[in-house]
Amino acid sequence: MYSEKVMDHFSNPRNVGEIQDASGVGTVGNAKCGDIMRMYLDITDDGVIQDCKFKTFGCGAAVATSSMATELVKGKTVQEALTVTNQAVMEALDGLPPVKVHCSLLAEEAIHAALWDYAEKQGITIDGLKKPKSDISEGEEEEDY
Ligand code: FES
Repeated sequence: MYSEKVMDHFSNPRNVGEIQDASGVGTVGNAKCGDIMRMYLDITDDGVIQDCKFKTFGCGAAVATSSMATELVKGKTVQEALTVTNQAVMEALDGLPPVKVHCSLLAEEAIHAALWDYAEKQGITIDGLKKPKSDISEGEEEEDY
């Protein structure tokens, strides 16, 4: 059901933890399944993400996608980090079962929320970044979990 990469990132997640005095922190949840993810970004003065850590209180797919998402955003500029969509994370993990696709949205939204927090603190805008939802199930179609 799960790819080897998903199992690997679930059993051995990368970048778990917090960053003290992070440049940006974002927390998102999904009220339907009750899962929560928090993402911390450490961003240089040049706008490069030099470190990224996460904490996830959630299902295995949420852990695996947040782990992969942190790997993908590290070393990217804040602008480039917007290319780390849930699709990109899923591709990097060799796919997720259809009922678990929504879990990867938590990772994307948590990155966006952390970037939004960073932009607010810096008083800048990041092109293409929309204000993230704190609950990604808002306005979603009914889904079976
Ligand atoms: Fe809620 Fe996976 S994130 S079931």
